[in-house]
Amino acid sequence: MTIKEALEQRHSVRQFEEKSIDEELVVKLKAGIETVNKESGLHVQMFNDEPEAFQANKPSYGQFSGCRNYFAMVGGKGMDEKIGYYGQQLVLFSQQLGLNTCWVALTYKKGGVNPKISSGEKLYIIIALGYGKTQGASHKLKEMSAVSDLSSDSPDWYRNGMEAALLAPTAMNQQKFRFSRSGNKVSAKAGMGFYTKIDLGIVKYNFEIGAGKENFIWV
Ligand SMILES: Cc1cc2nc3c(=O)[nH]c(=O)nc-3n(C[C@H](O)[C@H](O)[C@H](O)COP(=O)(O)O)c2cc1C
Repeated sequence: MTIKEALEQRHSVRQFEEKSIDEELVVKLKAGIETVNKESGLHVQMFNDEPEAFQANKPSYGQFSGCRNYFAMVGGKGMDEKIGYYGQQLVLFSQQLGLNTCWVALTYKKGGVNPKISSGEKLYIIIALGYGKTQGASHKLKEMSAVSDLSSDSPDWYRNGMEAALLAPTAMNQQKFRFSRSGNKVSAKAGMGFYTKIDLGIVKYNFEIGAGKENFIWV
């Protein structure tokens, strides 16, 4: 599966098969985490066969079943955008490996998650991981005009990037971001609200895949 296919096929999955992730995939995921941590300075950790985080959680939204694995997204203060950007990298990598994911800021059991947190760091969010019972479903997309300055004479790479950005997961599917372009310079800003800076990093990662990094620069 290409990364573009992974981006298109990814949906949040909250119902998982109660089985361990194949050892071969665990090895690949660990290598992926090591690369991410080296590049970003984050302290992402993976937990396997630990169902505690998803127990005793019975809200109407965000209820999980069968989930035994997750990424703990740990990093220094003020790294929200990086958490989103590199977390989405791991989400799409997991999708490519045939796994399913869901970003989880709120609907998990806080006491059931105990990552290593060094001085100056915090746990931002976790990402549920495993073999989904289903592949999930598409979320409602905002209009391009509500999130960007895309017009009929925008270059194809900008349209492709925006299409990928709109497929990104955001907290409560709020899609509170705004893109604008001048020539090959692209700016993306977070709106007001909960977790919008993490959302921004996620959306920027998706945009880069859709647009092609060689076609533009961030400003
Ligand atoms: C920063 C962030 C926080 C989220 N927190 C939760 C959560 O606490 N519980 C939950 O069930 N889903 C959570 N989600 C998943 C979103 O609800 C989901 O991504 C969104 O509705 C879009 O659906 P999709 O991921 O299937 O495209 C979160 C997503 C993001 C990006």
